[in-house]
Amino acid sequence: MATKTEVPGIAIITGAASGMGRATALAFAVAGATGFALLDLNEAGLAETKTLVSKAHPSARVETYKCDVTQESSVISAYTSAKEAFSRIDYAVHCAGIVTFQGPSADCTLEAFDHQNNVNYRGLWLCAREALRNMRTQSLDTEAYPDADIPPHRAQRGSIVNISSGLALHSQSGIPAYCGAKAGVTAITRSDALDYATQRVRVNSVLPGVVDSPMTNPSPEIRQWMYDNPVKKATPMRRFGLPEEIADVCVFLSGNKASFVTGACWSVDGGFCAGYSYE
Ligand SMILES: NC(=O)c1ccc[n+]([C@@H]2O[C@H](COP(=O)([O-])OP(=O)(O)OC[C@H]3O[C@@H](n4cnc5c(N)ncnc54)[C@H](O)[C@@H]3O)[C@@H](O)[C@H]2O)c1
Repeated sequence: MATKTEVPGIAIITGAASGMGRATALAFAVAGATGFALLDLNEAGLAETKTLVSKAHPSARVETYKCDVTQESSVISAYTSAKEAFSRIDYAVHCAGIVTFQGPSADCTLEAFDHQNNVNYRGLWLCAREALRNMRTQSLDTEAYPDADIPPHRAQRGSIVNISSGLALHSQSGIPAYCGAKAGVTAITRSDALDYATQRVRVNSVLPGVVDSPMTNPSPEIRQWMYDNPVKKATPMRRFGLPEEIADVCVFLSGNKASFVTGACWSVDGGFCAGYSYE
């Protein structure tokens, strides 16, 4: 039997000021989540996302937290504040990330390598650790949301989605630290999935392909390069993905309809990781 409400609980989302993080917040709003803890470094972007979410779901409670995922104290503070505000955290989607074109390994500085990893891998793990610390001890959602009619076999304490990248599976030249960090995200996702499966916390990763977001559009020249290369040459569907196409998968994976999915890497990439496609 399917569940009545797709996501009846509280969502915490990092990178919520922009791109896929913002789109994920909006997708949760449309799907009926009742509380939002939105985290990012960018406070102005967070305020814009809050306005959009409130418009999409006027009765939802939305809180924003300035958070730098590279700083342990900042992450702990944001997750603790969210837990105090909402009493529980049901869904965590970790989107915060950066890409820097640091060059091939022989040309890559230690600072550039560390910065990529501190945000994309270590920072994501700091967030996942706080989410797990909260989720593993809270009640099942069947108890927290009795009106949602969640079948007992689909009950969960929480669900985490970690945003990795298609580049975790297919590397791209010139950005070794990014590729390595994203591969690390898929590995730590599987590891956490194993450790918390019996406690009914599910942990999955999503591997986006080339998505039209501020990350891929820092200038018209770079956007054109992205279109001419990874989109036209390596994406079988020959188009950019849209942030909402990633967001919808994150919401599905978070909710009880995905109750038997854990430790998975979900490619959402127009075929990018499926193989080569010649015209
Ligand atoms: N855009 C793509 O083509 C693409 C493809 C594959 C994977 N990804 C991944 O998807 C995720 C979202 O990317 P996006 O395209 O939405 O990018 P984006 O630049 O639009 O959003 C990233 C957000 O992360 C925030 N952020 C950066 N550093 C932070 C820090 N230290 N602490 C807190 N927040 C921080 C930024 O402020 C921004 O709001 C990233 O992890 C990215 O690596 C993107």
